[in-house]
Amino acid sequence: MPRPNSLYRCSACGHETPKWQGSCPACGEWNVLERESAPRSGARRSPLAAAAAPLPLQAAGGEVRRLGSGLAELDRVLGGGIVPGSVTLLGGDPGIGKSTLLLQVAAHAAALAPVLYATGEESHAQVALRARRLGLAPEGLEVLPETHLESILERAAGRAAALLVIDSIQTAESGTLESAPGGLSQLKECAAELVRFAKRTATAVFLIGHVTKDGAIAGPRVLEHLVDTVLYFESETASRYRIVRATKNRFGAVNELGFFAMTEGGLREVRNPSAIFLARAPEPAAGSIVTVTRDGGRPLLIELQALVDRMRFGAPRRIAQGLDANRLAMLLAVLNRHAGVSLQEHDVFVNAVGGVRIDETAWDLPVLIALASSLAERVVPGSLIAFGEIGLTGEVRPVAYGEERLQEARKQGFHSALVPRENAPRRPIEGLRVVPVARVDEALAAAFSEPARPAAAARAPARS
Ligand code: TYD
Ligand code: MG
Repeated sequence: MPRPNSLYRCSACGHETPKWQGSCPACGEWNVLERESAPRSGARRSPLAAAAAPLPLQAAGGEVRRLGSGLAELDRVLGGGIVPGSVTLLGGDPGIGKSTLLLQVAAHAAALAPVLYATGEESHAQVALRARRLGLAPEGLEVLPETHLESILERAAGRAAALLVIDSIQTAESGTLESAPGGLSQLKECAAELVRFAKRTATAVFLIGHVTKDGAIAGPRVLEHLVDTVLYFESETASRYRIVRATKNRFGAVNELGFFAMTEGGLREVRNPSAIFLARAPEPAAGSIVTVTRDGGRPLLIELQALVDRMRFGAPRRIAQGLDANRLAMLLAVLNRHAGVSLQEHDVFVNAVGGVRIDETAWDLPVLIALASSLAERVVPGSLIAFGEIGLTGEVRPVAYGEERLQEARKQGFHSALVPRENAPRRPIEGLRVVPVARVDEALAAAFSEPARPAAAARAPARS
């Protein structure tokens, strides 16, 4: 098969089409379509390609000096700071704090090196106002209200900027394209041009990309493969906590989480996030249990809640907030088959409190217990945590980082832990009673026979 990058151009109006036709589909002239001799991508060789000469790998190596962002949480998510010449995409809902975060980063970096903050979203005065509100008075930070990409790059190159922020990639437009800004081809072309610029000049580039809730993403997703690092800003509506998650990182681990709180003075990092989602009522209620997740590079205590309610009409509802709904359906089947707890006549709601999304299987066991707890209206002791994966045959399977999770639970003041048998620690953990379980029914029996202890110490949300 010939590659489909052959192109026919109308000699009358310049219209391009991938297929030869007798007449030009744009202007209607006959016999005007001519085959372009070179494929388009090769026709305009990028300056990067022109400049790059082959190098032995060792010579190209060397230690890169990363740039600090001024926020340890962000540095951690990036894998230890900002890499020169790297391109990072920061996606998130409008209003979540993308501009705020990157203005803070830009201001910090500007104290050490020239920084250019190009914005097509706000005016110069708006950015200045925001900087003042944030208490930032960056000397070396230049704000450029501009959407024209070539002008931005010219300015960045002229200042030898170490850091360039594009707010947002959806407003950027390249002069070499005729399509409207925000369109897919503009988006891709601008991002590709920025990547070439970053690699050629060793400028670290941050791209802000708006994401819409329904997943009909006009942009960021199609850019993910172009950039080095993809960060997503997540938050529950009305929560002041913000989570930055790395979903792709050529210079660090993925799925690292960074925690921030949106305050009057901008985004403040939360250094000890392990219990920020644990603002529980003093007396535990039926349907509530605490788990330790390790999704995101470190242990995090989270309350899981379940509500089981007799179905009124129609089909039973299964709603999962922050958890995978398909997995919930599987857990309901296991509960029915292997623990004799049927919820076929019930609406089922489960929720990871605080707006976190848990993408690991360790919440299987606690969710199962919370469901049974809600159904039976029996309270699980507030001093108990649980984690573990559930298999289809009703077995409780081990999860990674068992010991680390237990240590964290102990640190946060929990007294007992229900865990998969294989996750029982080799040496006892002082002050923590570990109850190993192998099967679902065994786990449920153990959860409800646990002696109630005074509520765990660390119940108030931790402050950084
Ligand atoms: P913003 O950074 O403009 O969001 P994005 O660029 O992702 O669209 O953040 C906007 C919200 O943040 C706005 O609703 C107000 C709030 N905010 C604060 O609470 N404190 C602050 O210091 C700032 C600058 C913004
Ligand atoms: Mg913004």
